[in-house]
Amino acid sequence: MTEPLQTRPVLVVDFGAQYAQLIARRVREANVYSEVVPHTMSADEMLAKDPAAIVLSGGPSSVYEKGAPRLDPALLEAGVPTFGMCYGFQSMVQALGGTVERTGLREYGNTPATITDRESVLFNGQPGEQSVWMSHGDSATVAPEGMRVTATTAGAPVAAFEDDERKLYGVQWHPEVMHSTFGQRVLENFLLRGAGIAADWTASNVVDDQVALIKEQVGDARVLCALSGGVDSSVAAALVQRAVGDQLTCVFVDHGLLREGEAEQVEQDFVAATGVHLVVVDAKEQFLTALAGVSDPEEKRKIIGREFIRTFEQAARDVVGEGAAEGHPVEFLVQGTLYPDVVESGGGAGAANIKSHHNVGGLPEDLQFTLVEPLRALFKDEVRQVGRELGVPEPIVARQPFPGPGLGIRIIGEVTEERLDILRRADAIARHELTAAGLDGEIWQCPVVLLADVRSVGVQGDGRTYGHPIVLRPVSSEDAMTADWTRVPYEVLAQISTRITNEVAEVNRVVLDVTSKPPGTIEWE
Ligand code: XMP
Repeated sequence: MTEPLQTRPVLVVDFGAQYAQLIARRVREANVYSEVVPHTMSADEMLAKDPAAIVLSGGPSSVYEKGAPRLDPALLEAGVPTFGMCYGFQSMVQALGGTVERTGLREYGNTPATITDRESVLFNGQPGEQSVWMSHGDSATVAPEGMRVTATTAGAPVAAFEDDERKLYGVQWHPEVMHSTFGQRVLENFLLRGAGIAADWTASNVVDDQVALIKEQVGDARVLCALSGGVDSSVAAALVQRAVGDQLTCVFVDHGLLREGEAEQVEQDFVAATGVHLVVVDAKEQFLTALAGVSDPEEKRKIIGREFIRTFEQAARDVVGEGAAEGHPVEFLVQGTLYPDVVESGGGAGAANIKSHHNVGGLPEDLQFTLVEPLRALFKDEVRQVGRELGVPEPIVARQPFPGPGLGIRIIGEVTEERLDILRRADAIARHELTAAGLDGEIWQCPVVLLADVRSVGVQGDGRTYGHPIVLRPVSSEDAMTADWTRVPYEVLAQISTRITNEVAEVNRVVLDVTSKPPGTIEWE
């Protein structure tokens, strides 16, 4: 129940490259709603979605490759404005009767392109020479009949074409990557000028649509939500609250493994900003007791997961019991599932409706809920915009990804109250300084890790110290699947190091993790 009510999607047909999701994001950056669909979806099924436009993504290296996905010409005859990029462009050339050849003139990376028609829909008002990002072995050598060639490169005689009559457009390069200097302009020109779509897909429209959909789905039943303090569950809860108000009960299990100030942000600021009805379960003692004496990372994860489910389940039973007593049974559970999860699990946009009852997160059979997943159509940055629109406090909206097991897996060794306290203070300093240095946009997340079983000798004041090292692990990433260590300026690192060793007495060394992922993971455990 999550697709916007009236918005006609721009379909991004995924030809198997890693670029389809990025294209979908770029379309949305132009305030136009987009959905990724697999190339295996039939033309009929695609057209049944009443698309406002179609974008064909890049894909395998050659249209001649064995088993290379083909474009059904019927899709191009339906009158839907279509834009092909790279492989999508070549498949259009082929489907429309042009020629794609293996010329031996391979182009890869930054490539100068000459725009031969600067009045055209795609290139209007742009420079005649621009740098584009190429990745192709074959080239289009003869444009299909009726297509106007609007750009060329050294290796691609037909590098872009347009047919305003039929609303068909294409470029040999990848406009979605940053390296194509006018890439976003070209894409926007297609969407707004070529396809004539209104740029009105905004966070406030998303809120309106979702609120209506949630109301319709939930009726007067009661809804439950496990609030973690992270961006996704907070924004999902705020949306449901906006839609059905007091029918929603949020449960926050405080396991004592959050960072400094985070529990308060949930218990006070989030509640004050959204009016959510919140049940807080203080389970700090319970988690610490269960974790006593345990150092193995997987063992810790298991214990934390088990205790969480136990606690949430009990709280859920209480809320369900209350609901039943009032004659409004709890039937729905909010989940902060995001669009990349939907696409990656093969669900695509077509599987957006979950109607079946799910046994979520290991909850027992007798507690069954239907899922409410108001973020299923959104990317992370869009979730943040929606959160801001709903007035969710900025520290929560801007929060970096944080693992469910929390600081429990950032203490290398046994988790104790004292060690949590050391790590919390060091982490708060690192976060504060990175934010103050304006690095939040560049850093995907920065785990701060306490090597609790390691000690090293130091000297401070007049005396010898024997303290613990703290590891800083700032990483840059698009999706956490791969990551690189962030080149944080030396002065910022120096400031963090000085402050931590001065202000956290138990720590006498700060070290920087300079490992990418792979081979390292982002977290240390
Ligand atoms: P790794 O360490 O595998 O982390 O490179 C990838 C992303 O996942 C987060 N992470 C977790 N999240 N439970 C979670 O909810 C976990 O057990 C867990 N372990 C890692 C990590 O913070 C990063 O964003």
